[in-house]
Amino acid sequence: MVKQGVAMTLLEAATAVRERAYAPYSRFKVGAALRATSGAVHVGCNVENVAYPEGTCAEAGAIAAMIAAGDTRIAEVCVIADSPDPVPPCGGCRQKIAEFAAQDVRVTLCTTDGKQKVMTVAELLPGVFTAAHMDRT
Ligand code: THU
Repeated sequence: MVKQGVAMTLLEAATAVRERAYAPYSRFKVGAALRATSGAVHVGCNVENVAYPEGTCAEAGAIAAMIAAGDTRIAEVCVIADSPDPVPPCGGCRQKIAEFAAQDVRVTLCTTDGKQKVMTVAELLPGVFTAAHMDRT
């Protein structure tokens, strides 16, 4: 069977965790699910704070859950929100994803009404800052 788009389980996991987002200030709920190279799925949602900069993104939550569970490498990512166009990770989250994912890892951006856009980590963050840039230290 040929599957198109993101694996259904990852989309389902991101959709479900999005419902638990704490977003009373923006009212913009985001869900993220990632499959680690172990096969385990880790999820996160945005968690806002009245001190706005203290809020955290869904992707950051999923990465924290992955690390807490003992996984360190990302095989695939799915992000979903109720937006007109497939929701892209913010700049900070692109760097956070790149820390744990190969350049060719697929990131599927989704809307709650069924639109999907598939990108790679390299496409999301061209010119990424890596540990190699600190080789002279
Ligand atoms: N947000 C995410 O959780 N992930 C993204 O990729 C984009 C933005 C959250 C942060 C904030 O809680 C709300 O969406 C509005 O910016």
